[in-house]
Amino acid sequence: MYLTQREERALAGEYGEALEIAYRVLVATGRLSNAKELIPIKWAHVSGVSYLTIGEYGLDFLRKISRSKETKFKIFTTVNPCGMDVENWDSLGIPAEYAENQLKIISSYQKLGIANSFTCVPFQSYPVPRKGTHVAWAESSAAIYANSILGLRTNRESAVSALASALTGKTAYSDLHLARNRKPVKEISVVLKHPLRGSVGFGVLGYFAGKHVNGVIGLRGVRSIKHMAEAKSLCAAIGTVGSSGMFVLGHDPGLESVEFGEREYEETLADLSDSETGEAVVFGCPQMTIEELYEFSVAIDGKHFKKKCVVFCSSKVYSLAMRRGYADVIERSGATFVRDSCADFTPLISSLKVGSVITDSAKGAHYMKRVHGVKVALKDTKEILATCAA
Ligand code: F3S
Repeated sequence: MYLTQREERALAGEYGEALEIAYRVLVATGRLSNAKELIPIKWAHVSGVSYLTIGEYGLDFLRKISRSKETKFKIFTTVNPCGMDVENWDSLGIPAEYAENQLKIISSYQKLGIANSFTCVPFQSYPVPRKGTHVAWAESSAAIYANSILGLRTNRESAVSALASALTGKTAYSDLHLARNRKPVKEISVVLKHPLRGSVGFGVLGYFAGKHVNGVIGLRGVRSIKHMAEAKSLCAAIGTVGSSGMFVLGHDPGLESVEFGEREYEETLADLSDSETGEAVVFGCPQMTIEELYEFSVAIDGKHFKKKCVVFCSSKVYSLAMRRGYADVIERSGATFVRDSCADFTPLISSLKVGSVITDSAKGAHYMKRVHGVKVALKDTKEILATCAA
């Protein structure tokens, strides 16, 4: 792999340990993916922010690389949700020792110069560069959205490789950065009696597609995806299983095709949903957008939840919802906002002390079952609001 003289010097440690590690990661990633060189990027999105996922080892590593005042992120860098609501962790039952470690992680990232995004839908809160721009996004749901909906170019970065890209402003020029690799390798042929609708419909399709295609997915039989909620649910579910980093709508007669009909839909739904109902409601995996909060506030206005309901969104989106009056309506319904946190990778779900939850997220269903050991009812957003609030 070709490196410039400056990159070679950084790799040899001439510009400090943090850059040496970052270039070692990029060179290793590049060699594995047959990259011929590194290219500059405009935006890094870093995951590995929750103490629940990165633990003591991750915290130590971040503290080490952020120790020097000279080590800063070279480009605009957003970060994924962390593992608790930074303002309200105490009242939400998060243990003090966990909170202390979570705050240390945040402090390390802040020293490196992050935008205080704490979101898995960074495209909602920051200006998106023009199509074709190279970025390096970790968080599979965001990376798939970037490639498939926004027309940006990114590989599905790991927490470590996205961090290396943030420190260097570069990524390996391979895979989905190259136009020739952005074509479907296999098609999912959607042959349902009724058009797909809502987060659950698109989430179930994404989960099926992610399981059956490793590479760019062709989606036949889906004319368009009208709502951002449906698009982000599809992307999140694709990213939950398998390694695909992109989908394309349309039909290519030369491609192998896998049918997604009523039977496949029902089987995939049954795989995700192992309960008819839940003791608590969880919304916001991926975190809710301002449009979703608006629709939620209209649907819930004047009603009250009959069970615990937690709603995950970023602080930025929450502040906007406050200014527009949506947050007030939602809070009056008895729902609790959890800001800047990941719906699945937080001790909060365990601290709810329930054996089952109800959610509209296929990705959430997958992870809450595995991470928190709860049963999950996967239901459409409207159905949840109709049955869980009055
Ligand atoms: Fe976002 Fe966490 Fe779900 S990062 S997509 S809320 S698993």
